[in-house]
Amino acid sequence: MGSAELNDFVKRVSERTDVYSVVSAYVPLTQKSGRYWGRCPFHNEKTASFSVSADKGLFYCFGCGAGGNIFKFLSLIENISYFEAVKLQARRLGIDLPEKKYSPEEERRRREEKILYRINELAQDFYYEYLTKTARGEIGRKYLAGRGITAETIENFKLGYAPDEWENLLTKFTRQDFSPQQLEAVGLVAKRKNSSGYYDRFRGRVMIPIIDVFGHVVGFGGRVLNSEDENSPKYLNTPETVLFNKRNLLFGLDKSNRAISAAGAAIVVEGYMDAISLFSAGVKNVVATLGTAFTPEHAKLIQRYARKIIFCYDNDDAGQRATIRALPIVQQAGAEVYVVKISDGKDPDEFIRKHGKEKFEELIKSAQTLIDYRIKYVLANTEHATTGGKFRALQEILPVVVNIENDILCAEYCKRISAALVLDEQLVAKAWKKFLKQMQETAHQPGKKFIAVKRQKIFERTDPIIRASCEVVLRMVWHENDMIDYVLTVLPTEIFSEPQREILFWLKNYEEQGRRANQMNAAEELSDEANAQLSRILMDGSDEPLDTEIKLFNDSVNILRRDVLLKKYHRILAQSEGYKSGDQEIYNKSIQELIKVKKEIDNLKGN
Ligand code: GTP
Ligand code: MN
Repeated sequence: MGSAELNDFVKRVSERTDVYSVVSAYVPLTQKSGRYWGRCPFHNEKTASFSVSADKGLFYCFGCGAGGNIFKFLSLIENISYFEAVKLQARRLGIDLPEKKYSPEEERRRREEKILYRINELAQDFYYEYLTKTARGEIGRKYLAGRGITAETIENFKLGYAPDEWENLLTKFTRQDFSPQQLEAVGLVAKRKNSSGYYDRFRGRVMIPIIDVFGHVVGFGGRVLNSEDENSPKYLNTPETVLFNKRNLLFGLDKSNRAISAAGAAIVVEGYMDAISLFSAGVKNVVATLGTAFTPEHAKLIQRYARKIIFCYDNDDAGQRATIRALPIVQQAGAEVYVVKISDGKDPDEFIRKHGKEKFEELIKSAQTLIDYRIKYVLANTEHATTGGKFRALQEILPVVVNIENDILCAEYCKRISAALVLDEQLVAKAWKKFLKQMQETAHQPGKKFIAVKRQKIFERTDPIIRASCEVVLRMVWHENDMIDYVLTVLPTEIFSEPQREILFWLKNYEEQGRRANQMNAAEELSDEANAQLSRILMDGSDEPLDTEIKLFNDSVNILRRDVLLKKYHRILAQSEGYKSGDQEIYNKSIQELIKVKKEIDNLKGN
């Protein structure tokens, strides 16, 4: 699809989109003074600060600073890319995607990929048949039965058994015209080390197919029957292949996504068997990582369906450490995080088999918040009897609590932390403030949602009149691109916030190329923060007659110029105080400078 075609497609979808009905499917909205308001879906809030302007097609949250056009909204709420959001909306409206034309190379790659998916699917059937229908699969059936896994579960997860032979699958599949190279590409066979030829990777193992959210079989986990066998690993997984990337995959999500949506929460466990066991017992909103650390991609994947993520890892040290490592990742992804500690048994599988579904659900209900869990963990794992130990423990706890914005909760946690560490409450509060300040000063990585919020907050703390004036100026430049050079001449760019500066230079770029920027360009090219700012600015725009807009613009420029000059005046004044008793020539010069600035300020007043 060429870029003109693409633009046209996006425009068509945009034109036919009813912004109100799209947003209100996710957020209940009420109308007030020409806009719709609701509780922001992107942060926790009790009052409605999320606003939608249906005619402008924009949203902005005054609480967390999220904002943008309707596709941006969809991409945030569905956790998909901007273009995926356009496609999603197109599908909902029944607008056909423009036909995609592939290069011959691309064409070939897609055909090959299809074959690889097909091979995995056939391998799943092969292992399944071997487990359920052959005499030699008996050993696998016995093993699963011994673990309380029913025929129904075997059928549901398409569990299988890999024959304990070196070339069984290899022979069968090459006879079906698949090449050994293709089988190797999906990790089903491996090259022999010392001679030519290949051998089956999975032998004598119970096979667990791993399926992506589109329903493709992308890999397998194979479990040995005898855990005591020290020569082979308990689990053998498909190696990284073009289809299989553990960072992006969660076991079970293909089956559990509806339940996750319905429950508003996903339970994350460590093991395949935990997920299978919970699911079969009727706890269906469960996924498992594939024996790797929890990644931001995993968090994103889950957040397509729910905001709450409940970690329920094994009850051993490794499990608890893995939980602790996962927490900041999930927190950064903006999820609501809870942690469940299994009270009896080593893992969720053992617990639910011993105590049943109801007891497990009670356990989930008693999940601790991320913060409580973290505090307990730090207390259990650090020495905090000595003064040094107390402060080290405090430094580990602060990163978790520092983002709490509710004052009452802050005070509450301050109390709890000081009680737990036997530290003075004032001292804890002070350390907290200092830590917060440090964090805000170092918060400069772009593209991170929670940092965007922080930065927004810092910005909001500046004088509201200055802020409003900057916004008026930017709005004018948006509508009248020619004004940009004037603005850049009369105002130093430092007065604008960082996202606003980004918008300014971005507009300047368009102006230089003689092009006009629109909402679509903004959504695709600007950072999240800049986009949100732009939405906020444009939403506030009045539909007043042009001359009042121009007057507002001129007033705003003057306010900003006066502010800049006043700051300069005070800076020189402070400097000249220093020169007073020193070099008289320098002192006189600074006084002259001072008079000059003062005149400029007076001139502004006459305006
Ligand atoms: P069971 O012992 O059968 O109940 O296993 P489990 O599913 O409870 O898994 P466990 O908690 O022992 O391990 C968690 C996950 O780590 C497993 O599901 C695998 O994904 C992975 N894993 C465990 N052992 C191995 C291993 O030896 N090699 C590899 N590559 N992964 C493993
Ligand atoms: Mn287990």
